[in-house]
Amino acid sequence: MSDPRPIGMFDSGLGGLTVAREVFRCMPGETVLYLGDTARCPYGGRSEETIKTFGMQDARFLVEQDIKMLIVACNTVSSVALDYVRAEVNDIPVVGVVQPGARAAVQRTTRKKIGVVGTAATIRTGSYEKAIHDIDPDITTYALACPLFVPLVEEGLLDSDITRLAAHRYLADLVAKGIDCLILGCTHYPLLLETIQSTVGGGIQLLDSALWAAREARDILFAMQGLSLQPGGGRERSRFYVTDVTPQFAQNAARFLGSPLSNIEKIELEQLTKTI
Ligand code: DGL
Repeated sequence: MSDPRPIGMFDSGLGGLTVAREVFRCMPGETVLYLGDTARCPYGGRSEETIKTFGMQDARFLVEQDIKMLIVACNTVSSVALDYVRAEVNDIPVVGVVQPGARAAVQRTTRKKIGVVGTAATIRTGSYEKAIHDIDPDITTYALACPLFVPLVEEGLLDSDITRLAAHRYLADLVAKGIDCLILGCTHYPLLLETIQSTVGGGIQLLDSALWAAREARDILFAMQGLSLQPGGGRERSRFYVTDVTPQFAQNAARFLGSPLSNIEKIELEQLTKTI
């Protein structure tokens, strides 16, 4: 059996395209409906109440379009509002990025010391630490907000002096704690992988939640016999909705997705806000 309906995914902006990229890699037959709330991005410095409202609005927009699964590709919304979103869409599976990333780290740490980096909102919730301790309470976690990383990535400063300096300032203390795994708990951070790796050294394994979330989505669909088996891949049939298109849009989107973005549709913010 196979389910040809699309997978819905949303993020505060374009960063969730790092998750879309992994979805296309590990499920090439799937069609994706992606929503990037670029008009209101970033979410990571906002209050929990606002993040919950935005997350619910994003989820509703996609659920109205007959999707078979919802991936909350944003770490901030996954941390703050996953249960709210799940309650809203109780008839299809909802996959966040936190649990898969945490599980992958728990499986890999040998020193039982895991670091987590993310936005201020993600770190404030303690979501990764909770997910790790639910699996293994003996693991020590060290979590740190790195608010400068998102704007640096948005500016395309992936490998620059200023980014290396920020990485050193943020990460030196985590390294000194003796961690052997570091979870990149933000959609933007995989783009800084090389800078972060060279800052922390080769002895620390970096875990990209985007990759593990895509694999979890695939495993769930496989178990439900819901994987799409359409030949030729679904990327061309996928649609990318955004709430704002800036002059840097195409360049940023290609950076996150790994190739140029097509099938883009700009929607009015009112289409999200009309329900709540
Ligand atoms: N998508 C967000 C996340 O993964 C990062 C950007 C933002 O702050 O909205 O946490």
